[in-house]
Amino acid sequence: MLIDFHSHFLPQIDDGSRSIEESVKILDIMAKGGIDTIVATPHFYCTEQSVESFLENRTKAYEKLAPNLKPEHPEIHFGAEVLYDHSLVNYEKLPELCIKGTNWLLLEMPYTDLDDKILSGVASITERGDVKVFIAHIERYLNFTSMKRLEQLMRLEVLGQINARSLTTFMSKRRCMKLIEHGYVHVLGSDYHRIGRGDVTVDIGYGIITSNKKFDDFAEYAEENGRKILADEPLDSII
Ligand SMILES: [Fe+2]
Repeated sequence: MLIDFHSHFLPQIDDGSRSIEESVKILDIMAKGGIDTIVATPHFYCTEQSVESFLENRTKAYEKLAPNLKPEHPEIHFGAEVLYDHSLVNYEKLPELCIKGTNWLLLEMPYTDLDDKILSGVASITERGDVKVFIAHIERYLNFTSMKRLEQLMRLEVLGQINARSLTTFMSKRRCMKLIEHGYVHVLGSDYHRIGRGDVTVDIGYGIITSNKKFDDFAEYAEENGRKILADEPLDSII
């Protein structure tokens, strides 16, 4: 079971796919890669939009796409990529942004140093009790913060996701492998936005990781984690 936990293939809802045709092409590529489940995670910015309008837009985007779906396309689940903001700690509607049918929330960190205020904010979100957090593309924040800060983040009650594309270039691959070695990576996503942008599907990411003997069982590990997330299992059953 190949699951892609992070994608922007729904048409005309964020900076991802610009048209129904482009969305179908992305899903064709996913099907070719053997992806059987994909989580649609359009961007959500709590300072710019309401949860109601976000959910309405997500439904509309899916409804536009639905008549064009093919049997070979992956099964679609609905979520959001929620950009961290201090106000999320007490944000009443946060559970509505989790992957539908679960309390798992894909949280994107701000592109800045992950200071104490941010880290304690994430800790508070995990302590709310109504959401479980997995952090989007954890490798990316190392462009903005230290490894020490990232480690502090990943030692909270959170899971980590990396982008398959980050495994395709030398420096970011090295970074990803280090994060996997530390046990901070639990699932993969494509973060697929647009055709021709260079995004790659998770099967390619798994292939790169497992070609290293040290990590040859990583695909099974991550797929099992993925199944548990979609079954809304608790964090300690995964870590
Ligand atoms: Fe994304």
